Amino acid sequence: MNHILQIGLIGAGRIARVHARTIAYRVASAELAAVADPVPAAAQALAETYRIGRIAPDYQSILADPAIDAVLICTPTDTHADLIVAAAAAGKHIFCEKPVALSLAQTDAAVSAAECAGVTLQIGFNRRFDANFARVRRAVADGEIGTVEIVHIISRDPAPPPIAYVGPSGGIFLDMTIHDWDMARFLTGSEITEVYVQGGVMVDPAIGAAGDIDTHVTLLRFASGAIGSIDNSRRAVYGYDQRAEVFGSKGVIQTQNNYPNSAVISTRESVRRDLPLNFFMDRYVEAFAAEIESFAAAVATGQPVAVTGHDARAALVVALAAKRSYAEGRPVAISEIC
Ligand SMILES: NC(=O)c1ccc[n+]([C@@H]2O[C@H](COP(=O)([O-])OP(=O)(O)OC[C@H]3O[C@@H](n4cnc5c(N)ncnc54)[C@H](O)[C@@H]3O)[C@@H](O)[C@H]2O)c1
Repeated sequence: MNHILQIGLIGAGRIARVHARTIAYRVASAELAAVADPVPAAAQALAETYRIGRIAPDYQSILADPAIDAVLICTPTDTHADLIVAAAAAGKHIFCEKPVALSLAQTDAAVSAAECAGVTLQIGFNRRFDANFARVRRAVADGEIGTVEIVHIISRDPAPPPIAYVGPSGGIFLDMTIHDWDMARFLTGSEITEVYVQGGVMVDPAIGAAGDIDTHVTLLRFASGAIGSIDNSRRAVYGYDQRAEVFGSKGVIQTQNNYPNSAVISTRESVRRDLPLNFFMDRYVEAFAAEIESFAAAVATGQPVAVTGHDARAALVVALAAKRSYAEGRPVAISEIC
């Protein structure tokens, strides 16, 4: 029988719960052997609900456990880089939630620590594993729509996060749009070379008071010559809005949202259906399972991971360029940042 990857879960918050449920019910190649969180009740709740082997007093205890092959870092963003460095020093393979860090220096230190230690490092850009976006990528890679000319990514959350989350997360460009910078690179297979942000606070003044914005449209230019846009809002009243369109010389490919059912109600007044799946924990159930399966396979085979530290760095560079574009009200070349 193949070895089942033994994972230590670091953090027991919102995304940790998603991974714990996914690994317990949908992933055959990995198991959660331990969980650590400074809030004992959070660790206990996950351990009991999802049959996690043991509750560790802290992450150091997970790193010291020879029975654990890998860690799954689900802590706040500003802790990721140090945890990657510590896990690499302990010889553990690492799956880390996005983004790796809020600065390029910390990202580089973390990525090179994993490389020097020779451990596997995969980043949690889960949307690459979504069937809709994977199909768009395949259409582009196989030339089904010809040369890519225009890309549109719509990515709107149903509601903003708690205000306390906003600051430490790095704000909309580093926390939320980070998925979309990665998606733009992934779908086109080309690097972003310039960004120009138009945005503002349209949802909640408290987000503005925390130093962030909640709505933006960003124009993109790619090394391939293509152009594109990313449209983000922290509040889509109809649910999680996650769509993409890639237009090329031979045609166009578009994706729609995912729904809890396919029923359509037609009456004398209207034709209507239920709202899309509400947020990432529902919409990306299969993608979260596929990314952990892919990580376990990379560890088992020694093959490269699907989402690398380089991908994390590339998305962060674009995020920092977007921050500057918004602050200075002008297009910013990526070469100004790195
Ligand atoms: N891929 C996705 O779609 C996705 C979705 C949500 C969050 N995230 C990312 O996941 C990370 C966590 O976000 P969240 O929403 O789950 O936050 P959260 O605040 O709900 O949970 C974080 C947990 O980490 C714990 N923690 C803090 N320091 C720790 C340490 N040293 N050791 C162990 N546990 C520690 C906290 O007590 C808390 O329970 C962020 O980096 C975020 O960007 C990714």
